[in-house]
Amino acid sequence: MTTLFDRHRLGGLELPNRIVMAPMSRVRAAAGGLATPSMAAYYAQRATAGLIVTEGVQPNLVGQSNPGTPGLHTDEQVASWQSVTDAVHTNGGRVFAQVMHGGRVSHPDTTGLQPVGPSAIAAVGEVFTPTGPQPAPVPRALELSEVPEQARSYADAARRAVDAGFDGVELHGANGYLISQFLSSNANLRTDSYGGPIAHRIRFAVEAVAATVDAVGAARTAIRLSPGGTFWGIEEKEVPELSGALLTELARFDLAYVHLTATAAEEVLVGLRRAWPGSLVVNPVMPMGPKQTDRAAADHWLGLGADLISFGRAFLANPDLVERLRTGLPLAPADPDTFYQGGDTGYLTYPAYQHTA
Ligand SMILES: Cc1cc2nc3c(=O)[nH]c(=O)nc-3n(C[C@H](O)[C@H](O)[C@H](O)COP(=O)(O)O)c2cc1C
Repeated sequence: MTTLFDRHRLGGLELPNRIVMAPMSRVRAAAGGLATPSMAAYYAQRATAGLIVTEGVQPNLVGQSNPGTPGLHTDEQVASWQSVTDAVHTNGGRVFAQVMHGGRVSHPDTTGLQPVGPSAIAAVGEVFTPTGPQPAPVPRALELSEVPEQARSYADAARRAVDAGFDGVELHGANGYLISQFLSSNANLRTDSYGGPIAHRIRFAVEAVAATVDAVGAARTAIRLSPGGTFWGIEEKEVPELSGALLTELARFDLAYVHLTATAAEEVLVGLRRAWPGSLVVNPVMPMGPKQTDRAAADHWLGLGADLISFGRAFLANPDLVERLRTGLPLAPADPDTFYQGGDTGYLTYPAYQHTA
């Protein structure tokens, strides 16, 4: 049986194990969306992962969801990421940037711009702003002529990511952000070629992927999806059919991987495994749910056909997670109070396992 410690070929990379660090926003970027030396240290501490996927990174200003997140749309941002990718590579690791366009999950107080979305329908809940949480604003519905430009923003960010030394990019198609909004049946009420039937709702995702493949190659392109996820008031109808149709379209590209979160019933996800011929990463728990990914959930999903397993909170709190899993050492718990707090506490302060003499 496949184990977490078997090697795996992913796009052009040879991974030494099947443990992926899941993307996690930590909102510690410097002004201007710049990566910092602390971010380089944080990712370098976790370079024993088979693959690191960074926090969500905005591809343009209007796509910024939270204050304090980094970007990949200016030359300064590219230069700042170079020290992060260098640090990870120096420590023997591999790293993809997660390109995350927030769409309607954003705020003018954060970006200076009215958020955009498939339709003028606000997300459910409060979004973070520089002055604290505020109700999600009503976004401006993208004009038909503007949609391709937003799809291309993922590709432009991917090009910059490769310039910055990243091994590839994961498009954030999950958790209620822009791609997920287009897939949705209640955030996307468009009546043009991007809304309505399944073939239309998947179009934006497919165009974003196609543009990214064009820009940096399929081996450097991946996508994360949360089938049936309900984040920020998103509803997805016809989950198996929608996700199945999307994966069938994406199978035309020889992508590095598809990354699924466990937001649908197990039999639906297993069906999607069968529909996707390439490498599959599974994050086997409900995102932000009470139970975090552990060894048992990982082994269960490797048994069901996942090629790789992503660990979020366990990796956040255990920089030596790979070694701890390999040798059965206990895992340190993550401290939610420092997830988005800024500073190095709860960021660089989680130690490797301390062996007592
Ligand atoms: C602090 C934090 C930030 C997160 N930010 C992102 C993000 O930027 N992009 C994303 O796709 N998922 C994000 N997630 C979700 C994780 O990738 C993962 O799906 C979730 O934590 C469940 O996995 P776990 O039990 O292994 O932590 C975040 C999770 C946490 C805890």
